[in-house]
Amino acid sequence: MNIGILNSGGDCPGLNAVIEGAVAAATARGWKVYGFFDGFEGLLSTPDNERWKILTPENCHNIRSMGGTILGTVNKGNFTVKSGVDGRAQIAQDVLDRSKATVERLGLSALIVVGGDGSQTIGLELRQIGLPIVGVPKTIDNDLGATDYTFGFWTAVSVVSMNLDRLRTTAYSHQRMMVVEVMGRHAGWIALYGGIAGGADVILIPEIEFTLEDIVRKVELLKALGQREIIVVVSEGARIGGRLLTLDEETKGEVRLGGIAAFLSTKLETITGIETRYCVLGHTQRGGSPIPFDRVLGVRCGAKAISLIEEGKFGHTVALNRIDMVSMPIEEAVRSLHLVGTDSQLVDAAKEMGISFGDAQERTL
Ligand code: F6P
Repeated sequence: MNIGILNSGGDCPGLNAVIEGAVAAATARGWKVYGFFDGFEGLLSTPDNERWKILTPENCHNIRSMGGTILGTVNKGNFTVKSGVDGRAQIAQDVLDRSKATVERLGLSALIVVGGDGSQTIGLELRQIGLPIVGVPKTIDNDLGATDYTFGFWTAVSVVSMNLDRLRTTAYSHQRMMVVEVMGRHAGWIALYGGIAGGADVILIPEIEFTLEDIVRKVELLKALGQREIIVVVSEGARIGGRLLTLDEETKGEVRLGGIAAFLSTKLETITGIETRYCVLGHTQRGGSPIPFDRVLGVRCGAKAISLIEEGKFGHTVALNRIDMVSMPIEEAVRSLHLVGTDSQLVDAAKEMGISFGDAQERTL
């Protein structure tokens, strides 16, 4: 049997582990694996311009430890990627036809799509024209309703935590406030876990409305208690007065988020008089080697995708349910986002630690 695999959307530590896991499990069954380059674009291969390579246990040996993806990925191009629960993929008919022609020409019995909600929605469209799709959920933001955790998320949390440790020592030395912007478009998981682990004083996330006044109150309280350094962690998707801060107004695909740390830094310095710097961790959270948890989860996702193919469960995605790999229909998987519960135990635990969410609800010290 021949099968294909592609990555789509933003990269994420652990993608190579998924590829290695899938290739190992497929090869053990005597199957041949086509790895498509640059996301769905690889499906637009022609005999004159092939955009795939055969993946083997030899050429995938130990790639589980490598960041990025050996296949490349795109979040733009001929297959419109739009994220969000209501995001709809709109793929031109000739692009659908050419994709189907490639799958038939290579004799593929299945195609594994490793991607976020936008990419899985594209997978669903391909499924509707008869392609045998199996999904693997992917996002650094950990905001997919399908699965308890996505690979790459805990690596990002580690990067945030490590950087907060570093930023705190310099902030302490200079008696400064640091505003640190982290990834998280719809959900504040990275800010929340990274901030708790790294000792943030204030965590601002898309799910919890905050005000400048409440942040200032917390900062002034800490100063009055003699704390030299103040660390504020903010998700790029957090809204200020209901407004998202963006780097451009791009409409095809996703808007590029960014700028909230710079904005808050200026405001907070002006109001409090405390010297403030900001730091955008950006793509450092997505690059580099996956931590062990993400390697293991990635390998398991790849192997589980192969068992779904074996069972003929097309139109399904793999998912992590507590400690087990399970599956669910892709439609169901993209239906809802996995957001931080505003009254969840995790948020309560952070509040117990004295962390403010800028919402006037924190415990006073
Ligand atoms: O969705 C994952 C994500 O990392 C977001 O957190 C971020 O807004 C976006 O991708 C960045 O995308 P790009 O790599 O296109 O700048």
